[in-house]
Amino acid sequence: MGREVFTEENYKKLDEVIQMYKGKPGALMPVLNEAQKIFGCVSLDIQKEISYGLNIPLAEIYGVATFYSQFSLQPKGEYVIGVCLGTACYVKGSQDIVNEISKKLNIEAGKTTEDGKFTLVATRCIGACGLAPVLTVNEEVYGKIKADDIDSLIGKYM
Ligand code: FES
Repeated sequence: MGREVFTEENYKKLDEVIQMYKGKPGALMPVLNEAQKIFGCVSLDIQKEISYGLNIPLAEIYGVATFYSQFSLQPKGEYVIGVCLGTACYVKGSQDIVNEISKKLNIEAGKTTEDGKFTLVATRCIGACGLAPVLTVNEEVYGKIKADDIDSLIGKYM
C-alpha cells in the first residue's frame, strides 16, 4: 500500500495540533485542515482521534469531513490524476478521458487504486482552457489530451 502515512510520528503531530486548538471555539475546521495536510486524508481513525481529543462527537466530525471537498477520507495515491471537467474541457470531451482512465485503472473518480499508486479526481477549471481538455498528474500539466493518449501517458507513471 503506497506510502505509509499512518505513522506514529504523524499521529504525534496530530496530537500537537489538537492540543493547540483544544478548548478554543471553532477548533474543528483548523484541526481537520491540519490533519488533512499531515496525513493527506482524514480517515475514520483520524476522526476518532480528533473526536476524543477535542471532545466533539464523531458524527459531527464525520459530517464536516464528508461535506467539504477539501477533505478526503482515503489516503491519496502517489500520483493524483486530475481531469478538468470545467466547461471548456468538458465540451472538448474530458468526460471521455475520465471514463478511459477509470477503465484503465479500474477505479471511479474520487478513488485510489488498491496499490496506492493512483488517485483519479475530477477537477474544476484550472485556468488552462486554451489547452482543453486538460489533465494533470501531480504538478505536471498535459493539454489537448485524447482518450487514445491515456495508455501511454499513464504508462509513464506505472
Ligand atoms: S475548463 Fe479546463 S482548464 Fe479551464
